[in-house]
Amino acid sequence: MPEIKVNDLTHTFGKGSPNALTVLEGIDLTFETGSFNTIIGTSGCGKSTLLKMMAGLFDPSDGEMTLDGTVIKGTDRRRGMVFQQDAVFPWMTVAKNISYGPRLRGASKSDQREIETKWAKMVGLTGFEDRWPRELSGGMRKRVDIGRVYANDPDVLLMDEPFGALDAQTKERMQSDLLETWSTTKKTVVFVTHDIEEAIFLSDNIIVLSSRPGRVHHIEKVTLPRPRSNEMRLTEEFLEIKRRLWGMLDH
Ligand SMILES: Nc1ncnc2c1ncn2[C@@H]1O[C@H](COP(=O)(O)OP(=O)(O)OP(=O)(O)O)[C@@H](O)[C@H]1O
Ligand SMILES: [Mg+2]
Repeated sequence: MPEIKVNDLTHTFGKGSPNALTVLEGIDLTFETGSFNTIIGTSGCGKSTLLKMMAGLFDPSDGEMTLDGTVIKGTDRRRGMVFQQDAVFPWMTVAKNISYGPRLRGASKSDQREIETKWAKMVGLTGFEDRWPRELSGGMRKRVDIGRVYANDPDVLLMDEPFGALDAQTKERMQSDLLETWSTTKKTVVFVTHDIEEAIFLSDNIIVLSSRPGRVHHIEKVTLPRPRSNEMRLTEEFLEIKRRLWGMLDH
């Protein structure tokens, strides 16, 4: 059964007002259970808007989104989102940020410690568990954010340019770690990036949106074998997809 469906969705900010802005138009998409999907498109085409509506932060002005056949309304911990801007709690240490969700749900102290250790390691922050966000770099804060969302164990992972602020090496490591985690947990992922190579490396499906108002311009099915390795980035098949997608984006 398809997990998330987007049915003829259009979104206009300030609908009916003189400043109305239609950001997305006539979007139909299906994200199968356990698939890895990436949305690419030029700045301002509505990628973050689409993701926020999937998270349930606001409703589309027309059309709907469903999860397992139920219309998405409001936020739910089944749908976890890593925001484009970092959203760490400045008044909590790294560890407390990471275990925030499980703590709210009443996890025992020892379970919290275990979660903090596991996910701090996964996002490369071992040794920084007791630091405050203000003591971290921008990229490290971003990794706290990611750790907190992973630790919450959602069924659907919505990630808005999560690795955009990271250096090339950290980014590649985080991509590989994400794929490893995804392959064992089989969450449905909807990921947004500006980085075509990142999109190909990670995805089963790449959705190319046109410029504002964003419409579905193309869906690329990536059939590169899994598990993916960094060497694959240099194969002819990979580069051919890269060339094709590059040609589709407005520069
Ligand atoms: N709350 C809002 N009210 C009014 N307009 C908004 C709001 N949020 C976003 N927009 C507008 O909607 C358009 C799409 O924004 P969005 O953030 O979805 O783009 P994006 O594709 O994520 O861009 P980027 O790649 O730069 O992150 C932009 O023109 C933006 O100004
Ligand atoms: Mg955005």
